Amino acid sequence: MQRFTDCVAVVTGAGSGIGAQTAVRLAQEGAKVILAGRTLSKLQSTADLINRSSENAVSEIFQTDVTSEEDVQELTTFVNQKYGKLHVLINNAGVSGKSRILELNASEWDRIQETNLKSVFLVSKHLGKLMMETGSDHYPAIVNVASLSGHKAGAMIPHYSSSKAAVINFTKALAAELAPYGIRVNSVSPGFAETPLTADGLKNKRFEEAIIKNTALRRVGSSEEIANVIVFAASKEASYMTGSDLLVDGGWLIT
Ligand code: NAI
Repeated sequence: MQRFTDCVAVVTGAGSGIGAQTAVRLAQEGAKVILAGRTLSKLQSTADLINRSSENAVSEIFQTDVTSEEDVQELTTFVNQKYGKLHVLINNAGVSGKSRILELNASEWDRIQETNLKSVFLVSKHLGKLMMETGSDHYPAIVNVASLSGHKAGAMIPHYSSSKAAVINFTKALAAELAPYGIRVNSVSPGFAETPLTADGLKNKRFEEAIIKNTALRRVGSSEEIANVIVFAASKEASYMTGSDLLVDGGWLIT
């Protein structure tokens, strides 16, 4: 299936995990994908994966810290000068941390909010304008990666949970603002998926068992399973869906 022929896409945090898999899927389906992230070597690994996955796949690397408005403006200028249009934006970059509220440093609170929430605002603001100028012929879409934790506060991750709940809410506000331009905005909330973000936790067998016990499907998800839903939300197949959150949690909330 080639759902993104002639489309230009930006994926933030594309150097690993869910972002990398999403970028691969978009490129396999015809999109020219700009891989945005902080670490060049990780972005290069994703570009290599894309090159190996399909003969005609096209990707480009652009080093960006999504918490910096200056970096985000440079990314926007790059996409505009190189392609002059943008159809798909995946706000995926994110970080987590572990702390009780009463022991949480304000600087750690800020780090999580800036990376997970402020970045979604900055990137959507600057690249959103380019999407508006692009027009709605190719069913433009923004997908923000939120979390199951945005629906259910997790113990020891109050800063993370709060940032992701805000992403779900911000998504709805942005969807309302961009709907008149034909741009759809949705969020995808993954449950527990095996990626570099969760790798340390999963090394602890008791932790892994607890995760599996709390998941109706009795297993941890994969980054591919999350990417599949992100790519669907970005595609024309979801052309009547905006302001929604898609929960991909293996049934965590129903246990
Ligand atoms: P990951 O750690 O593999 O991916 C996150 C990527 O974001 C990394 O490549 C990292 O370098 C990049 N990044 C972090 N800060 C950045 C910054 N300031 N500027 C640019 N790039 C930056 O982890 P994963 O799991 O693939 O996470 C992707 C998204 O999925 C995140 O938003 C995460 O919160 C969310 N998520 C993941 C879950 C999981 O179980 N893996 C569950 C729920 C949500």
